[in-house]
Amino acid sequence: MFRIQSKTDISRKEFQDQKEEYLKILALYKERMALVMQGGPEQAIKRHKERGKLLARERIDLLVDRNTPFIELSPLAAFDLYNNEFPAAGIVTGIGVIHGKEVMIVANDATVKGGTYVKESIKKHVRAQEIAMENRLPCVYLVDSGGVFLPEQANVFPDKYHFGRFFFNQARLSSMRIPQIAVVMGSCTAGGAYVPAMSDETIIVRNQGTIFIGGPPLVKAATGESVTAEELGGAEVHTMISGVADHLAENDVHAIQICRNIFESIHRHEYQPVVTSAIEEPYYDPEELYGILPIDLRKPVDSREIIARIVDGSMFHEFKEKYAPTLVTGFARIMGYEIGILANNGVLFSETSLKGAHFIELCTSRNIPILFLQNITGFIVGKQYEHGGIARDGAKFVHAVANADVPKFTVIFGGSFGAGNYAMAGRAYEPRFLFMYPNAKISVMGGEQAANVLITVKEDQLRTKGQQLSPEEREQMLQNILQKYEEEGSAYFSTARLWDDGIIDPVDTRRIIGLAIAVSRNKSYSHTRYGVFRM
Ligand code: COA
Repeated sequence: MFRIQSKTDISRKEFQDQKEEYLKILALYKERMALVMQGGPEQAIKRHKERGKLLARERIDLLVDRNTPFIELSPLAAFDLYNNEFPAAGIVTGIGVIHGKEVMIVANDATVKGGTYVKESIKKHVRAQEIAMENRLPCVYLVDSGGVFLPEQANVFPDKYHFGRFFFNQARLSSMRIPQIAVVMGSCTAGGAYVPAMSDETIIVRNQGTIFIGGPPLVKAATGESVTAEELGGAEVHTMISGVADHLAENDVHAIQICRNIFESIHRHEYQPVVTSAIEEPYYDPEELYGILPIDLRKPVDSREIIARIVDGSMFHEFKEKYAPTLVTGFARIMGYEIGILANNGVLFSETSLKGAHFIELCTSRNIPILFLQNITGFIVGKQYEHGGIARDGAKFVHAVANADVPKFTVIFGGSFGAGNYAMAGRAYEPRFLFMYPNAKISVMGGEQAANVLITVKEDQLRTKGQQLSPEEREQMLQNILQKYEEEGSAYFSTARLWDDGIIDPVDTRRIIGLAIAVSRNKSYSHTRYGVFRM
């Protein structure tokens, strides 16, 4: 491999100005993250602690091996929704290490509306299980939840990927020999009762955990029977009478210790063998990304400059360097792991698509995971390109991405627009993980293009009626569309709705992708089978 020769002059004013601007974007991101990490309102946190309970993130800290990383997923879920009353959507999910094994952890935050579920909390829980399934990760559920947030029932209860999917997934995961462990540290009401009941092994905390299909008020209303929560479904009931739980813990710390003990007898089933090398930091400082990443998406960025600040030693073996230059492809290492990289360097043409498909074939034939670095406005448009069969060649690229069975990871470092999002392993193409940078934007097309399309359609409509838009109406329409796209295209809008697995600080990319590659090895991957490539 050769070292990428960066052409960025970091002493130039342009670089320094852009870095300053990026640091403001980063400061806003960190401020929002810090707010979310606090959990629910102060009063709720105080009450929670007075009950002798640990906070969700404190529980996770105790659960995982000391000095090991925890990748928290989608911490900004539900951001700017529900008057910001659901920080992190009331649920913490992420991958931690227990007794040396990577584990998916799903922890309710009872300080957020009693740990109840809105649409985004459900999506987050289901996504965590999906990641567990794709990467064969055992699951630990730290349960402390009032179940469905009742005012939102229509958005959380009946559909395929709503509340019921949790238990369906648990059954499926368990049948795949992926351990399901529940620790009941608070309420587990109604449907929520099935989280511990569907688990392989369940721990419950004395005088704190409860499991029941219907709580005391419901029992009273239904049968007239008066019963306390503890008598109905407390820890002693379930470990001594019903058998719904298996281990009785005295408090949170004890429960977590028991959970860790369970992992002593849980072993990996399969592990993809890979060749690793010594980890080498990039030759170019990753912090220089702040002066390089596109804030104004109209400004072209050579994606080699990004790759140089992510990969080991800034070393890159570029494939077809001189051919179809709007897509950079090549092999590198991240945290010692081999990786194939596809990075956008402009719009996608027919030849770019062929190059992309060819490179993916190389990666799948060599069993090397793929990293997609997205900054894409889409496929080229115009008569010449349609006649040349851009749709046919684009389809080859999309086929290759869809069927590549090696782990795929996607990082959106700039724009992600149109079918370019699909070809570059957007969410629908099941990358094992998808992260965005705080400056990134995602929408079907850029705001200006959308405004032009919609205004043209409107003007054509009016023309057939002998009417036209006044300059003021035109301007108003333009501004409205631009504003809408600006708002809906932001990384925060995306992450709030779980279109990604989280916004990350660019300097953390290599650490996070390195961990993601390590996690993906829990499932072997050598089963790529392509369909019919239209020639
Ligand atoms: N739907 C909507 N809101 C709920 C809720 C639910 N299922 N459960 C709790 N909340 C809200 C409360 O209204 C309160 O909101 P506020 O802070 O705006 O006042 C907040 O969550 C905390 O509830 P509170 O009862 O004060 O906290 P707690 O820690 O003492 O008790 C629970 C938490 C979850 C044990 C208790 O609220 C409860 O039993 N809820 C009902 C559970 C249920 O029957 N769920 C069935 C749904 S499938």
